[in-house]
Amino acid sequence: MTSPSLQHLFFGTIQLLVVILGSVQGSNTTTPLVIWHGMGDSCCNPLSMGAIKKMVEEEVPGVYVLSLKIGETIIQDTENSFFMDVNAQVAFVCDQLSKDPNLKGGYNAMGFSQGGQFLRAVAQRCPSPPMKTLISVGGQHQGVYGLPRCPGESSHICDWIRKQLNSGAYTDFVQKHLVQAQYWHDPLNEELYRTHSLFLADVNQERVVNETYKKNLQSLEKFVMVKFLKDTIVDPVDTEWFGFLKPGQAKETETLQESILYKEDRLGLAEMDKAGKLVFLTSDGDHLQFTREWFNTKLLPYIR
Ligand SMILES: *[C@@H]1O[C@H](CO)[C@@H](O)[C@H](O)[C@H]1NC(C)=O
Ligand SMILES: *[C@@H]1O[C@H](CO)[C@@H](O)[C@H](O)[C@H]1NC(C)=O
Repeated sequence: MTSPSLQHLFFGTIQLLVVILGSVQGSNTTTPLVIWHGMGDSCCNPLSMGAIKKMVEEEVPGVYVLSLKIGETIIQDTENSFFMDVNAQVAFVCDQLSKDPNLKGGYNAMGFSQGGQFLRAVAQRCPSPPMKTLISVGGQHQGVYGLPRCPGESSHICDWIRKQLNSGAYTDFVQKHLVQAQYWHDPLNEELYRTHSLFLADVNQERVVNETYKKNLQSLEKFVMVKFLKDTIVDPVDTEWFGFLKPGQAKETETLQESILYKEDRLGLAEMDKAGKLVFLTSDGDHLQFTREWFNTKLLPYIR
């Protein structure tokens, strides 16, 4: 039979362990980060998203970084960035995030290029788990009207895509099967865009104002948008700050603040702007070109 003093010692030890474990967990105060790659890229390319993940893990010890893979394999992931229905991609991601125990308490999100507008759709459609801060790095929030150059080594596919877009981005077939068509925004055909764009016109409240989208987006702590001043891939580059070409022509641009979307506050962005939740940053390079020093100074403060 155990003596009372030993029992005390035993239970005392368990209590001590619980306290230690509790404090270790308690000290893990980093917010997880979810990243979504751009067109022609994948979750795990060591020269792009792999490098970003590693960099963040080095700068923020203990942080959980999830680099999204859309599909079963890395090849599928890359193909899906060209050919998978964007609404289905967003639903796929929402499902994955809701099942990830590491994200229960909320997460920050960082989208690269088209991953920027796709993660905004996640914020608007899927409030659980909660996204805290959204960082869009060269995202195209008002879509594109041109694809002058392609990133990386996908120029062959890109030439083909450009042809499809120019010949009829709003036909049902192209809309359903070409990712870039789903954020193609033709300022000369705003009505066609409004009625036929399966993805962007919906998330930008062009058809109806969905109050849920507004409420969900507004629950972000910050919405950070990075524009690349020497961008040769995104046209017009204003879209990276939620601006675009003025309707009815293809020369003059307008800022977010000058747009109907903002003036009617269809998406709640004007209110967020007044509350100091919108952050507009620049990088002096071409599309997605930045240094580690720039990243650490400009973006890291929002994900620590
Ligand atoms: C912090 O929490 C995350 C997610 O729960 C976990 O993946 C990570 O390993 C933890 N880090 C430390 C240092 O405990
Ligand atoms: C508004 O968005 C929510 C979230 O995606 C969706 O469930 C709902 O059906 C939408 N309502 C309308 C009118 O589109």
